[in-house]
Amino acid sequence: MKNISKDSRMKTEHVVAGTSKQSDKQSRINQLVPEVLPRHFGPYGGRYVPEMLVPALEELEQGYLHYKDDPLFQKELAKLYQSYCGRPTPLYYANNLTQKLGGCKIYLKLEGLAHTGAHKINNALGQALLAKRLGKTKVIAETGAGQHGLASATVAARFGLRCKVFMGEVDMRRQYPNVYAMKLLGAEVIPVTDGTKTLKDAVNATLKYWIQNLKDTHYILGSALGPFPYPVMVRDFQAVIGREVRTQILEQEGRLPDHLVACVGGGSNSIGLFHPFLNEPNIRFYGAEAGGRGPNPGDHAARFGTTPKIGIAQGYKSYFLQNEHGQIQDTHSVSAGLDYAGVGPELAWLYDQKLVEFSAITDAKALEAFKMLTQLEGIIPALESAHAVARAVELAPSLPKDDIMVVNISGRGDKDIFITARELDRENWIAFLKSEVAHG
Ligand SMILES: Cc1ncc(COP(=O)(O)O)c(C=O)c1O
Repeated sequence: MKNISKDSRMKTEHVVAGTSKQSDKQSRINQLVPEVLPRHFGPYGGRYVPEMLVPALEELEQGYLHYKDDPLFQKELAKLYQSYCGRPTPLYYANNLTQKLGGCKIYLKLEGLAHTGAHKINNALGQALLAKRLGKTKVIAETGAGQHGLASATVAARFGLRCKVFMGEVDMRRQYPNVYAMKLLGAEVIPVTDGTKTLKDAVNATLKYWIQNLKDTHYILGSALGPFPYPVMVRDFQAVIGREVRTQILEQEGRLPDHLVACVGGGSNSIGLFHPFLNEPNIRFYGAEAGGRGPNPGDHAARFGTTPKIGIAQGYKSYFLQNEHGQIQDTHSVSAGLDYAGVGPELAWLYDQKLVEFSAITDAKALEAFKMLTQLEGIIPALESAHAVARAVELAPSLPKDDIMVVNISGRGDKDIFITARELDRENWIAFLKSEVAHG
């Protein structure tokens, strides 16, 4: 990857450039189908991929364009959201947390109560339904925290699709409960041993596999990033979160919220919450990134930290953490789902427009917030979501008491037992593991 401003060797962007065969085809398709999906968010997004992937992405684009407005498709999806995923998920007034912080009223959107324990099912279900309509028999997915892999394995089981999930070796170790569940569901979990053995390496491995298996395989990409149409399609599936919040807060408070807070890995739960509110001028949007161990390169995944850099990687243009040679920088976060060097293009543009405020939450602050929410409200959040809680803890005390804040609890914390138990209850946890090994 290169910093764009210096990069004269950018890959051709097939959709926009007017010279390639694919572009000609695209212009013809554009005459038939009204252009309604944004390919770019300001300068970000696009489709920077090898030639071989273009037909598959075009097929996906046309399929999505068709089915997103198809009443039967939408009806089936809505029914499954309700009967299979448990939607709408609750919007819960966190009275104890509100009292403790002494500032604005805090509501929690409990995505952890959705089937499989996180928001990832909203997107996986939508894409699986689409894959079926497109006649695909196999699905592949990348995963970091394992929640997207779990959601993909789940919908694959539900729809009778064969499923392979690519997962970095480091993530497999730290999110083992999800690895076990994916296998139980019949998915093949493929360890990725390249690079830092985390999410970006899993995305690369999945894209590579897809290129070799395009015909019968759909790639269920797990966040609002990657080549067009993924950023917009994933956002649309996740926007169910924000739409529900709008209805629920109007029911409970009779007005819209003032502040929306979400953690930002690739960006799907945050853009899903924010998007239905983006044209509300009085709402402020906050994204919590992984501040990890601190600001040194390699110690965090805060793309909007001190020196945000624009680049192209994994099929899209956005902000990426990069080293001095323009290569993707290694990242660290206590939460596997935020441990990623890039960020979805729509959020990049919203950052430029100063519409979303981003800040870095350290591992230590996230763990503190994890404990706080657990003990005050009886809700054990995913470590990713604990970053959003930590941001709320920073913000709420200085906000007026009648302001309303909604924090997205993107997932529940069961998957993180191997991390949180080691961090917060080390001796007992190690003793337990030893005794398990001793019992064989
Ligand atoms: C519970 C949870 N929250 C948040 C994220 C971050 O992803 P995104 O930014 O796409 O919502 C993940 C990723 O795996 C996750 O599992």
